[in-house]
Amino acid sequence: MLRSLKLTVLAATMYSTTLMAQDADPGRYPLIPYPQELTARQGEFVVGRTTNIVSANVFANEVKQLQQLMTTFLGYKLPVSARIGASSIVLVQDNAVKGEEEYELDITPSRITLRARTGAGIFRCIQTLTQLVPLAGHPANEKLKTIAFPAAAIKDHPVYDYRGMHLDVARHFFSVKYVKKFLDVMALYKMNKFHWHLTDDQGWRIEIKKYPLLTEKGAWRTYNNQDSVCIEKSKDNPDMALDQEHVIQRTGQTLYGGYYTQAEIKDVIAYAAARHIEIIPEIDMPGHMMAAIKAYPFLTCDSENGWGKTFSTPICPCEETTFKFAEDIFTEIAALFPSKYIHLGADEVEKTSWAKSPACAAVMKANNLKTVEELQSYFVKRMEKFFNSKGKKLIGWDEILEGGVSPTAVVMYWRSWVPKAPVEAAKNGNRVIMTPGNPLYFDGIPDRNSISNVYHFDPVPKGLTAAEAANILGAQANIWTEWIPSEKRADYMYMPRMTALAEVLWTHQQRYDHYLERLTSSYALLDRMGVNYRLPDLDGFAGDNVFVDKGTLQVIKPLANMAVHYTTDGSIPTLQSPLLEGALTITQPETIKLSAFSPTGTRGDIYTLKYRQQHYLKPVAAAAMQAGLQLGIYEGAFKSATKIKAKADTVVTVTNVAIPEELGKGGKAFGAKLDGFIEVPATGIYSFYLTCDDGGILYISDEQVVNNDGWHAPVQKSGQVALEKGLHPMRVDFVEGGGGYTLKLEYSVNGGKIQPVPDSWFKRK
Ligand code: ACM
Repeated sequence: MLRSLKLTVLAATMYSTTLMAQDADPGRYPLIPYPQELTARQGEFVVGRTTNIVSANVFANEVKQLQQLMTTFLGYKLPVSARIGASSIVLVQDNAVKGEEEYELDITPSRITLRARTGAGIFRCIQTLTQLVPLAGHPANEKLKTIAFPAAAIKDHPVYDYRGMHLDVARHFFSVKYVKKFLDVMALYKMNKFHWHLTDDQGWRIEIKKYPLLTEKGAWRTYNNQDSVCIEKSKDNPDMALDQEHVIQRTGQTLYGGYYTQAEIKDVIAYAAARHIEIIPEIDMPGHMMAAIKAYPFLTCDSENGWGKTFSTPICPCEETTFKFAEDIFTEIAALFPSKYIHLGADEVEKTSWAKSPACAAVMKANNLKTVEELQSYFVKRMEKFFNSKGKKLIGWDEILEGGVSPTAVVMYWRSWVPKAPVEAAKNGNRVIMTPGNPLYFDGIPDRNSISNVYHFDPVPKGLTAAEAANILGAQANIWTEWIPSEKRADYMYMPRMTALAEVLWTHQQRYDHYLERLTSSYALLDRMGVNYRLPDLDGFAGDNVFVDKGTLQVIKPLANMAVHYTTDGSIPTLQSPLLEGALTITQPETIKLSAFSPTGTRGDIYTLKYRQQHYLKPVAAAAMQAGLQLGIYEGAFKSATKIKAKADTVVTVTNVAIPEELGKGGKAFGAKLDGFIEVPATGIYSFYLTCDDGGILYISDEQVVNNDGWHAPVQKSGQVALEKGLHPMRVDFVEGGGGYTLKLEYSVNGGKIQPVPDSWFKRK
């Protein structure tokens, strides 16, 4: 891993000015992740009725996959034979292609050759071939008569061994059919680890033969608060409705839930294995166990089951009956899942019931444990020994570091506000998988910045030597589903941003603009697969818009085949709403809702544009000004940017709307006020884009221009203001609720390109 990582990083810097200029035509080669080496060639290889697939008794699974794939595009089956003919796709086992997932693909007008040492390499190569099928201009349901593959020579291998996706099926349940579709999409982008979060407080989703009540009771619930919120939201967005196939009637009650039988689990494992994806099961304990405790109340220290101050009551690590239960479960899990890993969870444990328990007092004394964190560590270490006895390695969320961690446990880093955790773990020799909340929690609502944030994520945290960095196995995006009640919503949340992660982990070279073009070309394939991806953003407007005499709404469409529909009566745009073509003139204050629709009818985000009339704001007289803004930091937790206390604890000067790292460190809650003036170079309608985690408000000349208040994950909001050339008083009030922050201000003028506000615009007295 280290070898290829070093080489690729070096290659990326060397290539940045030379090879990048020669990157292949993104329309002809819409490959994500981009291959390590691609030489574009003239001509095409045309697959048609006379083409055969050739393999000399190797790669039986991959031959079948390739044949099925061609059938889905062509509607007819290509024969498989041992002899190369006039038009052949040839699979070659080649031990010189060394890496586990490495492959070579050679497409010439007379033949396609796939080469690899392993089935995994050939399978990854088939995915590359899939992405090269030219689909532009073909409706998603149309079979192709022939496929003209563009000629190319490709040599490819991944930089990271661990390229993961997680799916929480406990908070909301997902069918076997959907999990298979999820695996298909992962496979297409060469992702290779599926972390299946199978149990949590809200549901137990895997059959355990020895403890049938886990699913009889634990897999079903009456609607909880989150379900009710989703149902309410579904009035505006049908994708927020619970999938009805998981709603049942039992003894007069409406219940939501479901679980996988062990036979279904085996079927999914086989499906993943055929795609060279490893499934890592997570059975989360000792916390997040309410569903199990509901079925087996003996598991807690105090026979209570419910919510503590922050998290749910955990199982008791001080009774042998608990270990017997856990070991029985993991015996079945270890037998079912071939992965070398089992994920124990071990996050977010409310330890108050342990602190009060006489049994725990005895265990702590007997084992010389000083704190309840050490007691958690005692539980995790005992479980790790048990996993090892079954030939498995333990993965745990990064809380397993807290009471002392064994050097062989694999740490899954998630708490963005504890940046030292992965650094210390890697220095300690632990293997680490990076899943930091920002930007890899894909349950965070996506916006126009999400893809860029993921693409520019570096899996190796700062502060590691090259040798220590070798302990970073890779990264993974997590999809927690408290607010993701349906399959369509899940698709929307992870696609297309997963494709950015795929390129980070496989290719690990910076090609952002080129990647965006390839992404644009790849939607046709996703349409064909029925993926409800988030459509790319429309441009040319802000959320809150102003006009002086009259305004013009000229929407910029990122994809030519999108149709934009709008309403002015507050209703949700549908395909039946008026089509927005050309420019719309605004002459009176109004609210416009608009949405883009793909050719298959998928609706993009609903934008609500408010228009109000304004005069150009007059500038203030320029006294002697200095560069920069004054930044005040207010210690404490403030739920709203309007509720920050009166007196600042620290005041410094900054060059832009940003909070220096050293002032906001430690993951603590705080408030901030950035105060000064903004000097705009020309009279115009200015749009400002304020990205905040948690919340913030931008004021210019006492006008509230952007309101992005409240505690939330990073999200961008925008507003407009009509400004005369010159200096205008401005302020940004910002609140951070704890756990890591983001603050960024961008602008555009008269509907132009969005860009950072230059430092030179900020002034203070
Ligand atoms: C987690 O998000 N509790 C791992």
